[in-house]
Amino acid sequence: MSFFYVKPNGPLRGDVTVSGAKNAVLPIMCACMLTDEVCRISSVPPLIDVFILKEILENMGAVIEYNTKSEVMEIKVPKIKSGNYDSSLWEKIRASFLVAGSVLARTGKVKIPFPGGCKIGSRPVDLHIKGFESLGAKTKREHGFIEIKCKELKGCDIYLDFPSVGATENIMIASAAAEGTTIIENAASEPEIIDLAVFLNKMGADIKGAGTRKIVIKGVKSFKGVSHRVMPDRIEAGTFMAAAAVTHGEININNICFDHIKSAASKLEECGVRIEEKGKSILVDAKGEIKGFDIKTLPFPGFPTDMQSVFMSIMLKARGTSIVTETIFENRFMHVDEMKKMGANIKTDGRTAVVEGVKKLTGAKVKACDLRGGASLVLSALCAEGDSEISDIYHIERGYGNFDEKLRSLGAIIEKRE
Ligand code: UD1
Repeated sequence: MSFFYVKPNGPLRGDVTVSGAKNAVLPIMCACMLTDEVCRISSVPPLIDVFILKEILENMGAVIEYNTKSEVMEIKVPKIKSGNYDSSLWEKIRASFLVAGSVLARTGKVKIPFPGGCKIGSRPVDLHIKGFESLGAKTKREHGFIEIKCKELKGCDIYLDFPSVGATENIMIASAAAEGTTIIENAASEPEIIDLAVFLNKMGADIKGAGTRKIVIKGVKSFKGVSHRVMPDRIEAGTFMAAAAVTHGEININNICFDHIKSAASKLEECGVRIEEKGKSILVDAKGEIKGFDIKTLPFPGFPTDMQSVFMSIMLKARGTSIVTETIFENRFMHVDEMKKMGANIKTDGRTAVVEGVKKLTGAKVKACDLRGGASLVLSALCAEGDSEISDIYHIERGYGNFDEKLRSLGAIIEKRE
C-alpha cells in the first residue's frame, strides 16, 4: 500500500494552479446520462473518484473517452444498460447516487446500489428519495439496492429539511425533465450547484435561481450534447491556502474564484495572514505569526465542512486557543487522533474540538482516515519536526490530483512510496 513520506523543508513558496472541482465534475458526469448526444467536459481532474464514476457510467452504457493529459472527457450514452451493478464499486463514492436523477428522467426506471463515500457521518439519502417521490416516483429498497420508478415525472414544490448538496443536485437533474415546474425551497446554494445548473441549461434545461435557496426548474422534453469547462476546485484552493499558513510560506494560487473562498480568506486574515486578491488568483502570504481562531462549518456561504480539517492543521501551532464546531457531519474529527500522534493538543466533545496551539509538532506515522482529513495530516507533517509517513493515501487521491507533485513544486519534500 502506498504512503506519503514527508520531510519538513521550511516555508512553501511559488505558484500553484488549482484543478477542476471534484464536486462539480461528478454531478456533471451524471447529468450526461440525460442525452444520447456527446458531451465534452474540460478541466476534468485525474482523481480516483472520477475514475470510479467513469467505470460506473460505463457499466450503465456510457462510452467515455478521458484524456488525463488534456483533462478532457467526452461522454456519449447511446442507451442505458440496466443490470445487477457491482455494489462494491458504487459503495466507494457518494456521488454514484447522482445517476439516479438522470437515469430516472431518461428511462423512467433506475435500480442501483446505495452509495458510499467518506465515513464522516451516517449520510442518508432520504432527502433525495423525498424529492423523487414528490415528483411522482415510487421507490422500493431491497437487497442493498434501491429501485425508483415512475410513469411520468410531474413538477412539484419540494422543501428540503436541510440544504443538502446531493439532494438538490439529484432533484434538479430529475425535475429538469419533468412535466411542469418544480420549485426546490431551502435548496443548497454551493457554487457546484450553479455549475451543474449552467451545464444543464446548456443542454436545454430551464433552471433559474441556482446559487440561492429557491431554485425554479421548468421541465423540458429533450437534452442535447454540449461542451463545458468545470469550475475551479475551491476546496483544493483552500488546502493550498492552509499549506501556505502552516509553513509560514507565500503561495500564489491560480485558477480560483475569490467569491467561492471568501470564508477561508477572511479566516486567514483574522489569524494574521496577508491575502491579496488578484482576479483569478490569490496570494497568501503567511510569513508572520499566526493567532488562534475559531471556525464553525455551515452550508455555503458559511465555512465549508470540507476545509475544516485542513484549517485545523493551521491551529495546531497557532498562538492560543482555537475552537472548531462541525455542524454538517457528525463524525468528521477522525484526523484528530492522528494529529495527536504528532504532538497536537486537541480535545473533542461531540461536534466541538478545542485546539491549544503547541510550540512544535513531531513527525510520526499516521493514517489518512478520510479524504480531507488525510490532506490535513500532510499539511501537519509539513510543519512538524522530523519525518512523517502518511498511509492509506488512496483517500487523499480520491479528491486531490497530483497533490504530492503540486506540493513539491512549492518546495515541499514529499514522496509517494510503496
Ligand atoms: C457534498 C460533497 C461533500 C461535502 C458536502 C457538504 C459531493 C460529491 N460531495 O456531499 O464533499 O462535504 O456536500 O458540503 O459533492 N443529509 C440527509 N439526508 C439526505 C442527504 C443529506 O440527512 O438525503 C445530511 C447529511 O447526512 C449531512 C448533511 O445533510 O449531515 C449534508 O449532506 P449533503 O449536503 O447532502 O452532502 P453530500 O451531497 O453528500
